[in-house]
Amino acid sequence: MSDLLSLAQAVAEAAYAPYSGFQVGCALETASGQIHSGCNVENASLGLTICAERSAIFRAVAEEGPGMKVVRLAVACLGNEFPPCGACRQVIAEFSLSGGATEVTFLRQGRPVTLTLAQLLPEAFSLP
Ligand code: THU
Repeated sequence: MSDLLSLAQAVAEAAYAPYSGFQVGCALETASGQIHSGCNVENASLGLTICAERSAIFRAVAEEGPGMKVVRLAVACLGNEFPPCGACRQVIAEFSLSGGATEVTFLRQGRPVTLTLAQLLPEAFSLP
């Protein structure tokens, strides 16, 4: 188990997920070598829910500033497994290494799978 996956699992315990019951955690390392984490926070309106990945990325920006780049990121859900949702992939793209080289790790059948952001989100949207 990677260090980031272990941290993602630990922070998932803090999730506020009374509606879905999906407790999700995310941990990431930035180009400066700092580690940041986040969890999902749900809302009764459902649409205002924020995923763990965006929670961690926004926290990293708040800590390091707008030039922050994500080198690698891991996501874990207690009792479930999935890669980042489409919305979070697009947000990761905003702070990715060039060419979508940021590495994203998640569990599949109990084993860590690592893909680049370019693999997860080919043809990401960006402004010209
Ligand atoms: N969720 C995440 O935190 N990350 C994802 O990539 C997918 C979904 C959360 C949002 C919501 O609180 C719960 O999981 C069920 O969708």
